[in-house]
Amino acid sequence: MIEIKNIYKSFGDKVVLKGVNFTVGKGETFLMIGRSGAGKTVLLKNIIGLLSPDIGSIYIDGVDITQLNKKELEKVRLQFGLVFQHSALFDFLSIGENVGFFLYQYTDLSKMIIKKRVKDTLALVGLEGIEDLYPYELSGGMQKRVAIARAVIYNPKIIIYDEPTTGIDPIAVDKIVSLIDDLHHRLSITSLVVTHDLEVGLKLADRLVFLLGGKIIFEGDKKDLKESDDKRLKQFLEGSSGGPIKEMEV
Ligand SMILES: Nc1ncnc2c1ncn2[C@@H]1O[C@H](COP(=O)(O)OP(=O)(O)OP(=O)(O)O)[C@@H](O)[C@H]1O
Ligand SMILES: [Mg+2]
Repeated sequence: MIEIKNIYKSFGDKVVLKGVNFTVGKGETFLMIGRSGAGKTVLLKNIIGLLSPDIGSIYIDGVDITQLNKKELEKVRLQFGLVFQHSALFDFLSIGENVGFFLYQYTDLSKMIIKKRVKDTLALVGLEGIEDLYPYELSGGMQKRVAIARAVIYNPKIIIYDEPTTGIDPIAVDKIVSLIDDLHHRLSITSLVVTHDLEVGLKLADRLVFLLGGKIIFEGDKKDLKESDDKRLKQFLEGSSGGPIKEMEV
């Protein structure tokens, strides 16, 4: 569903991605881990066409999106549901208007039908009857769930989660993890998850990549992760389980 081939991306002199390759299969939940500044969000932005790579190809469902013009790219982008790191809800819109946003923007569906879809989608994320509230009236965990509802309402083929559980308490984190897992099974969507929280990531995904200094240092199954004797990966794993974080060299 997603095939990344030899992606390079620089900003000025700064080379952020240095030849990244990986493939995410249809219906798979795939995890990307890596320390802050590793280039994870930049890579996601390339995948959804917000940035274009200097070198390399990105195939989405068989189409190389690096070759598309703006209009074609917009169409492809509608296949993605995005739950982004700072995917703030629109403060000035009600929850119902936030969740229905893409349907109001990009479809000719009637208001009544959209309202029904919003109601059903809010139920899907366990938040019935909050259409008329505003984002400031919700907890951080609820806001994340609303952001997920907004992302799944138009039946995307792929959902991208960038740090879906950052900044919320452990119980809310568990709820988000179950929700993502449940949506994955119910809707069979291909998911790409980026998180600092390895425990969360490993609950959700079967396969993963570890990005360091703009390169993939590890790609494999969950079980291979424990068996890997790559020092840099081990350091990351120790760091994220509460151990000391040391400087890592690429
Ligand atoms: N538009 C931009 N212009 C210049 N540099 C950028 C731009 N976007 C990202 N960078 C740089 O690219 C590097 C990777 O950033 P990125 O946001 O991908 O990190 P990340 O792995 O997502 O980190 P975090 O885990 O903190 O979210 C950083 O050094 C950042 O400063
Ligand atoms: Mg990021």
